[in-house]
Amino acid sequence: MTHVPVMPVEVLAALRPGVGQTYLDGTLGLGGHALQVGAKLAPGGLLVGLDWDETMLAEARGRLHALANVTVELYLADFREAAGCLGDALRRHERQGGADAALLDLGVNNMHFEDAGRGMSFLRTGPLDMRMDRRRGETAAGLLARLTAAELENILLEYGGEHWARKIASVIVERRKQSPIRTTDDLVECVYSAIPAAKRERRIHPATRTFQALRVAVNHELEELSEAIARIAQCLAPGGTLVVLSYHSGEDRHVKHVFRELSQEGGYETLSKRPIVPTETEVRANPKSRSAKMRALRRCA
Ligand SMILES: C[S@@+](CC[C@H](N)C(=O)[O-])C[C@H]1O[C@@H](n2cnc3c(N)ncnc32)[C@H](O)[C@@H]1O
Repeated sequence: MTHVPVMPVEVLAALRPGVGQTYLDGTLGLGGHALQVGAKLAPGGLLVGLDWDETMLAEARGRLHALANVTVELYLADFREAAGCLGDALRRHERQGGADAALLDLGVNNMHFEDAGRGMSFLRTGPLDMRMDRRRGETAAGLLARLTAAELENILLEYGGEHWARKIASVIVERRKQSPIRTTDDLVECVYSAIPAAKRERRIHPATRTFQALRVAVNHELEELSEAIARIAQCLAPGGTLVVLSYHSGEDRHVKHVFRELSQEGGYETLSKRPIVPTETEVRANPKSRSAKMRALRRCA
């Protein structure tokens, strides 16, 4: 399977990885960015990578074998634990300092959408699981069975920006009285019956926001995100850079605020006021990149 990382040129330009440096990748995915950054660390560099999804970690491990003369340490872990993993890797390899470059490429991988068994795509029939870390946590079907209409509405509004949140939540609550909402098709049907045909958006599938919102809720994607970003920023070596790629406004808001706070407190500078977005050429070649926003923060030397 080929994999194209998002905004590779912009990410490399901001991270400026160099020979012998330490790189922390909090969201390895298929290792696309890690391979490109890792190649710049040889010889003598250390690449510390995390992913909470064991399938992704195994894929990345296979791909990163291609890196020569770079030490690779991978952790099946949440990036909220990145500081501990980095500390562990530095100790094991008797290295000083922090990360010279760090990356968080938030959200899900294409492979997550393509795997019908994950239930993340409204285009594929499958069980409504949606968990990235399948070792723990409640599935989307579980949430849809348990939450009140008000709680569901709040999730759809907060995490999806869904204008029809109230109506969709009330259809879900009515439907589940007859039979549980277990599959992606069940949920798509709820969305279709909540939004009148004439009012449906044409630019995106009507269920896009509902699926995104539920995935964010299932994986607690926004919980402690600001704190986690701040902790990773504190792990940077002097002159080190943290890049965050986000894919919806909820995520970007957190990144923007925490970067602003850290720069105001001193010791850090944001590399651009506005987020950097992919070029039109990249979006044409890789449509999944269209919603990406990149922000970068540098620790003062
Ligand atoms: C967009 S993909 C990363 C793609 C990667 N940069 C590449 O080029 O292959 C995001 C990855 O982050 C992982 N992820 C999302 N949230 C995470 C978290 N809190 N902790 C660890 N991994 C996470 C997902 O499992 C997914 O594999």
